Order: sequence, then structure tokens, then C-alpha cells
Amino acid sequence: MEKLAMLYEGKAKKVFETDDKSRLIVEYKDDATAFNGLKKGSILGKGIINNKMTNIVFKYLEENGVETHFVEELGDRQTLVKKVEIVPLEVIVRNIAAGSFSNKFGVEEGKELLNPVIEFSYKNDALGDPMINDMQILAIGLASKEELASVSKQALKINELLKDYFFKRGITLVDFKIEFGRYNGKVILADEISPDTCRLWDNKTNEKLDKDRFRRDLGGVEEAYEEVWRRITI
Ligand code: TMP
Repeated sequence: MEKLAMLYEGKAKKVFETDDKSRLIVEYKDDATAFNGLKKGSILGKGIINNKMTNIVFKYLEENGVETHFVEELGDRQTLVKKVEIVPLEVIVRNIAAGSFSNKFGVEEGKELLNPVIEFSYKNDALGDPMINDMQILAIGLASKEELASVSKQALKINELLKDYFFKRGITLVDFKIEFGRYNGKVILADEISPDTCRLWDNKTNEKLDKDRFRRDLGGVEEAYEEVWRRITI
């Protein structure tokens, strides 16, 4: 597999074309941003952890019937993936109130929700990734009705699988963000699942083991990512 021109550079990853039109290479960086790029920094070693963790988690999901873009890990920071057309939605699933949900609705961080909540944001940096509902998504044409139904069903299934996966490793899955891409007429899981995109709390102490340590200047950022990695690979 030959790595060709860079197609796109995002905040945390670079994407390269390959000599196979149906495959891309993603390369994970240590760069970290928050608040739509306003806060910038780096988390040493995060690119390696996020790459390898995403691949382990995607393989687990595949084994449990969730199709993903994963093809093959090529190195510490690089993975070969199916070339999908990203659906421009951030799909957020919440089990426990935190972050923007707590702020928006005045629900104390840490309160268990009575049911899992799916939220969508329109992936558009210029607009600041605004929250969007299903009728708005259909009205603008960001996804079809069938795609939206598939995305929601998969998101809830992924939530159940991940809650169980993390709980066995001493971690409470508070919430997470996933993205989907169009591939061969279906929408499949793409992007990443990592401490950048999940809220992960120690299930005994509620210590934060995720990017909130960076967002909120809590310190111990690298240590938190390494701890999640340790628990996944133990
Ligand atoms: P929020 O509470 O800030 O809306 O975040 C919900 C979840 O989504 C949390 O696990 C962090 C993740 N997330 C991202 O992965 N990317 C983002 O740009 C934002 C705002 C949140």
C-alpha cells in the first residue's frame, strides 16, 4: 500500500490518499484543541494511544456486528481505513449528565440519566458545530431518513457494547462522540473512539480519564490517557 498525497489535515489527524482508490491512511497527531480550536496544545503520545485504542475498540465492535471503516493498523500512528464519505454529523450519546448537557439543562455533572440520550451536532467549524435535531437534518439534507434511522440504531448498540467493554476495565462511559461515513450504500462507523472523544471516569473514584483534563486544565493529561491504555491492554 503506497501512501500518496495528503488529502486533508484536521485538528487531530491527517488523512492521505493511497494507490487504492477505496482506501485512505489516517495519521494521528499529538495536537489537541478544544472549544472549536480556541484552546491549543499537545498531549505527548496521544496520537499513538488514540490510534491503537480506536483500532482495538473498532475490532471489538466488528466482532459484535458493527461495521467500521477499520482495515489494518500500519504503524504506531497510522491506520489503513475504508474511504468513506463522512456524514457531516457529530453523533453524541450520553449516559450520565456532563459537559454541555449539564450546562444547557442545569443538570448536575454526574447525574445518571433515565435513558441514553442521542444528540446531533452539524459538523461545521465555521458555525461552531451547532446542535441540530433530526427534522433539521432532513430539512437541510445532511442525511436521509434511512441513514438517520441507521445511525441512531447503531449509536445505541455501540453505547451498550462500549458501556460493557469499559465497565469491565474499571471505567464508566459517561458520554462519547462518534461519526459515520457512507460506504457501499450503507452508513458505517468511522473516525475514532478514544479519550479525545469519550468521557471516561474511573468507576470507583469518578476520576476523569479523558480530554476534559486538557479542556479544564486539570493536569495529569498524559497520565490519564496512559491509564486508559493500560486498562485496555491489561
Ligand atoms: P459536550 O458535553 O461538550 O457536548 O461533549 C459530549 C461528548 O462529545 C464528550 O464525550 C466529548 C465529545 N466531543 C468531541 O469528541 N468533540 C467535540 O468537538 C466536542 C464538543 C465534544
